[in-house]
Amino acid sequence: MERHIRIFDTTLRDGEQSPGVALSLDQKLEIAHALARLNVDIIEAGFPVSGPLEFEAVRRIAAEVKGPIIAALARTHTLDIDQAAKALEKAEKPRIHVFTSASKIHLEYMLKKTEEEVLEMADRMVRYARQYVDDVEFSAQDVMRADWDFVKRLYEVAIEAGATTINIPDTTGYGTPNEYGALIRRIRDEVVRGRNVIISTHTHDDLGLATANALAGIENGAGQVECTINGIGERAGNTSLEEVVMALYVRRDWYKAKTQINTREIYRVSRLVERYTGMPVPPNKAIVGDNAFAHESGIHQDGVLKHRSTYEIMDAELIGRRPAVIVLGKHSGRAAFKKALEDLGYKDLTEEQLKVLFSRFKEIAEKKGPLSAEELQALVESEREPA
Ligand code: KIV
Ligand code: ZN
Repeated sequence: MERHIRIFDTTLRDGEQSPGVALSLDQKLEIAHALARLNVDIIEAGFPVSGPLEFEAVRRIAAEVKGPIIAALARTHTLDIDQAAKALEKAEKPRIHVFTSASKIHLEYMLKKTEEEVLEMADRMVRYARQYVDDVEFSAQDVMRADWDFVKRLYEVAIEAGATTINIPDTTGYGTPNEYGALIRRIRDEVVRGRNVIISTHTHDDLGLATANALAGIENGAGQVECTINGIGERAGNTSLEEVVMALYVRRDWYKAKTQINTREIYRVSRLVERYTGMPVPPNKAIVGDNAFAHESGIHQDGVLKHRSTYEIMDAELIGRRPAVIVLGKHSGRAAFKKALEDLGYKDLTEEQLKVLFSRFKEIAEKKGPLSAEELQALVESEREPA
């Protein structure tokens, strides 16, 4: 039986914390609607106490976007929780996400509190949030660099106080997959111990390991993944939604877990977020980058022309993109070149003509890079012209 993995999208909260990004109210609403069409389980709409615009964005999303749970972030302060609850008043399914910190570094330099004080506040504030809503998530930042004994006590306190989801943030992207997976397993076995509480991953990409860590978390008992579209977020970003979702889909034989994501909406949402945040998706970005479904080298093109599965592990259409493309550049081979000309209608070229055209094409591609369909056409026509 495949386990259901909840997708908690935090593009509008952690994602918007990307340096230089400031979304307008209308843009946030449009992204939230797009996330609902994508069928994410939870949308973290923002951090209401952080300012009036943020409050209003969460309030409007809660009132207007139906389907997913709408979550609002709050520190372990009554004012934060009051504001989160107020912003969520009209939500069909509201969630308050209460967070503190777990590592000694955070306690000493940021919170300036002792472990006992943090435990007491977590206990009191999770109970306080539960007075407003039944669905309370609890997080402790920087768990990966914290002492296990304190982590265990802190999450135990949060569960006893009524947290229904416990989120395990690797805030600084410090963990490695085996280590993070082992931590999730330990949380499952020594803290949750069969109680009806969902364990969530929240991993950052400082070492390029966010997706690997999230997947390791799933393998070890996590039932929710926190992620963002295109992996945007603080510093190097968060786990990217499209990578986790497609890894679970393509490798369902391995993970035996599934999401409810409407994968055909992925590309559209990715482009929307790229446009509104002004954060370009790198061409080689998995799943949504321009080159993710493009083949340039002769050997790959030859394979793909014989059978797509030789070099493709998923169909581009599955994520709402146009079919994979053959790029005709300097690495391309004769088979792909011939096929491209046939697709353009040049089906009766002789071997000699093809030979001349191919060598001319290589010369041009070496100098200027890949050729478009129009350029290929121009090439054939120019070679055909009478001397
Ligand atoms: O990275 C982090 O620790 C967070 C928390 C607020 C969940 O974003
Ligand atoms: Zn984060």
